[in-house]
Amino acid sequence: MTRSERKKDHIQYALSTGMPSWNSLDDIRFVHNSLPETSLSEIDVSVMIGGLSLSSPFIINAMTGGGGSETEYINRSLALAAAETGAAMAVGSQMGAVKDERERYTFETVRANHPNGRVFANLGSELTPEQAVKAVEMLEADALQIHLNVIQELVMPEGDRDFRGALDRIQQTVQALDIPVIVKETGFGMSAENIKALEYTGAAIVDVGGHGGTNFSRIENQRRKQHLSFFDEWGIPTASSIAEAVSARNTLSITASGGIRNGVEAAKSIALGADAAALAGTVLSALQNGSQKQAEAFLHQCMDELKMVMTATGASTISELKRVPIVIEGRTNEWLTERGID
Ligand code: FNR
Repeated sequence: MTRSERKKDHIQYALSTGMPSWNSLDDIRFVHNSLPETSLSEIDVSVMIGGLSLSSPFIINAMTGGGGSETEYINRSLALAAAETGAAMAVGSQMGAVKDERERYTFETVRANHPNGRVFANLGSELTPEQAVKAVEMLEADALQIHLNVIQELVMPEGDRDFRGALDRIQQTVQALDIPVIVKETGFGMSAENIKALEYTGAAIVDVGGHGGTNFSRIENQRRKQHLSFFDEWGIPTASSIAEAVSARNTLSITASGGIRNGVEAAKSIALGADAAALAGTVLSALQNGSQKQAEAFLHQCMDELKMVMTATGASTISELKRVPIVIEGRTNEWLTERGID
């Protein structure tokens, strides 16, 4: 099977195995404010993450690495949707294009169609600093994402089995680049212990990629019709992972991700302390079930919902939203109590 066939499978099965019935962000409730003293038209949603200014806290997260015309189509459509809505956009893994010049066009279309926006390059943690420099240059990227996908590799019979050296490679990459490095999970969440280790590497941003949305254990199991299902329910739920990351960070910015379905859930993530919110599966689903216009409409709707919640909670800026009172219920409360996080 070629890499582009594997990527096609990922898109197909990401859509069919997507969202679980319980989403940890359901456990987060805003405390209603009857006297918010805000005006919807005055809400400011700009943010700074890892030293980068973003006009919107929404990021279209990494998808569709691998070559081929379908990748090019999806990347172009997502870049146009990002440009129309002011979202930042991360591309999927560029390892193929770093190794084979003929695949570069599937990524170059992103910068061409999102010329003034924030674009993030993407490679796995097996990267070398030289590969990182190439990936960044291909996109004139504003930041580099380094993805971690231990569980996906373990579920794949042909996947990696040796995960040593990732922290060293991340640190070397940070030193080789003059733009921020984002370390991201891909759906199993990151712990407070991981965040502390990543602070030492000099990475600027962590994207928690929690459990609750796209699930690469289910995707790989479906692809092979196999039932290595013990990893399907593995991972730190998104709400808990955001709280873990926020409690442990020192200077790192935190991006919330993993099953974020709408602007209200993005607002809940920020109220938990995240600086921005990244969405992959839900944007892909809007695009694949409709068109680029549908992806744009979905992102506009997310922004409208975020602004409404900010207005209702008395938060005129994203920093104020981080401080509005929330109540943490249910399983997320149990998790955080057990872990000693308040
Ligand atoms: C992904 N994701 C991903 N991440 C990454 O860093 N590099 C990649 O190449 C890919 N490829 C990819 C393909 C497809 C089809 C999907 C749906 C996702 C993971 C993605 O960026 C994100 O971390 C997870 O999908 C969790 O977020 P959602 O989908 O639950 O919002």
